[in-house]
Amino acid sequence: CGIVGYIGNQKTQTVLIEGLRKLEYRGYDSAGIAVFTNEGLRVAKAQGRLANLEERLESAPLVGTAGIGHTRWATHGRPSDVNSHPHTDESQKFSVVHNGIVENYLELKEELISQGHHFVSETDTEVISHLIAREYDGDIVKAVQKAISYMRGAFALGVLTEYEPDRLVAVRQASPLIIGLGEGENFIGSDIPAILKYTRNVYILNDGEMALLTADAVELMTIEGNFISREMIRVDWDAVTAEKGGFDHFMLKEIHEQPKAYRDTMLGRMDESGRKVVLPELKLTQEQIKNIRNVQIVACGTAYHAGLVGRSVIEEMVRIPVENDVASEYRYRSPIVTPETLVIVVSQSGETADTLAALREAQSHGAHVLAITNVVGSSIAREANDVLGTLAGPEIAVASTKAYTSQLIAFYLFGLYLAQVRGTMTEDAVAEVIAAMEALPEQVESMLTNAESIKGYAEQIAEHENLFFIGRGQDYAVAQEGSLKLKEISYIHSEAYAAGELKHGTLALIEEGIPVIALATQEAVLEKTVSNIKEVKARGAEVMAITYEEHVAGLLKSVDQAFAIPKTLPILTAAVSVVPLQLLAYYASLARGNDVDKPRNLAKSVTVE
Ligand code: G6P
Repeated sequence: CGIVGYIGNQKTQTVLIEGLRKLEYRGYDSAGIAVFTNEGLRVAKAQGRLANLEERLESAPLVGTAGIGHTRWATHGRPSDVNSHPHTDESQKFSVVHNGIVENYLELKEELISQGHHFVSETDTEVISHLIAREYDGDIVKAVQKAISYMRGAFALGVLTEYEPDRLVAVRQASPLIIGLGEGENFIGSDIPAILKYTRNVYILNDGEMALLTADAVELMTIEGNFISREMIRVDWDAVTAEKGGFDHFMLKEIHEQPKAYRDTMLGRMDESGRKVVLPELKLTQEQIKNIRNVQIVACGTAYHAGLVGRSVIEEMVRIPVENDVASEYRYRSPIVTPETLVIVVSQSGETADTLAALREAQSHGAHVLAITNVVGSSIAREANDVLGTLAGPEIAVASTKAYTSQLIAFYLFGLYLAQVRGTMTEDAVAEVIAAMEALPEQVESMLTNAESIKGYAEQIAEHENLFFIGRGQDYAVAQEGSLKLKEISYIHSEAYAAGELKHGTLALIEEGIPVIALATQEAVLEKTVSNIKEVKARGAEVMAITYEEHVAGLLKSVDQAFAIPKTLPILTAAVSVVPLQLLAYYASLARGNDVDKPRNLAKSVTVE
């Protein structure tokens, strides 16, 4: 989601709409604004693209000197007019825009309902406006502080009240928020592009900080109310760079957003003891879970590759047979599905036509369909019996990166959940995986600080027309995704092979100097993979290995170069080992002068068969 806010004498509505246009990439299920007009606080909102809101405002503009705006990427509650932000309380005197998630909103909502509050939306945000209204005692800053002391989760807020029209309150608690400083006017925004047209002077809020804005001043404080000072930053980005968060391409930005996507996808899904996965959103009953006889994972493209990892995760954790299918095959092969089959469809967009058709096919046989998707209000999310959302945020680059890795996180969570219910893992074993999952964001972050270290190798690769990826087990699944990534954006032909299968035909293609990328992380089969590496080396291949630090020295006896990745559990490796392959594809595409974010012939979302 994206937030914008304004206080000053310019045309508030115009500033808000301009800001939202720049934030639309963060979500575009619906948009809305609240403006303090001379008739009081007035709200306009509309489902769908920003243009729908603009149309609505054309006939009834909101004129005033303070306002907040929001563009939504649905997480709690489907996209609709009523679920759109800003949200107000019953008195309509308080208005809130919110980015993020209030984890304990159901508890808070129940409490407020028991105190006589009435709610109109399904969102967690509406709870915030009611909480602020309840706590209000003449000072909006204090009321907001009180309200957030009850809230758990990651959020950024913009708050207005009709009682204090000259004040705008902003809060940052783990979701980004910046303050823009003008002359006789001030701004808030989820990021710099939202306000860049009006000012280049900004304060960046840190977690646990808030701001009180008037037209002439900005006061910064902690959410406990201690005043703080902050150096103003002068932004010298151009508008286009700013939209990409300072990165050259959306793909690179999205690769760097993976640690956040991991954290967001895990947020609220592990209980506080760190020993259990909790997925309250699932309708699948314990009884149904106990009765599952087989699982089918169906998807297209990169999402299919996430499903390959999903298969090994579920089989290992739960010991239920799992099949993978590409959706376009599944729908026409008269799949064997019974009511005891759990079908998992995986789709970033939730709109892929083949995946949607596969979902319907499975349901027609009585299967329970769980969708792992990044878009809450999508067709697949609406039609599935259950939805496990990935919280990667909008993905713009056609080549999927953070959506894929968030799908892996979803599979880990779901696998653990099934294992808990079916008793196939001990509590200690579950806790061990959870602890390793919690370390993943930092491990990926540490790799990304060194992102350019793979650039030189990518430039070498870019000179070739053919290459191979090999691996065993999960390494093979990741090899397939690495190969697809490279093909999509660099247009270099590559094939991913199960390392042990190469000798049954494809080895004929190995000749002097051909690059082979060997994923060698799975310790149980490491020696076997090394044998396969030797087979290609003996035929002249130039081998690059991706492996854990501790194996680099050993492998360097058999390979030409090695790239070390941080150590995690074998079952979680994909979430780490795919990152260098994403970067490899990115830099190879760059070296070839391709349009990284919009590769030829491809579309982000394919809604035809
Ligand atoms: C398109 C995209 C791929 C994506 C596939 C499935 O082909 O170019 O990157 O993996 O669709 O998309 P979905 O939205 O269903 O995950």
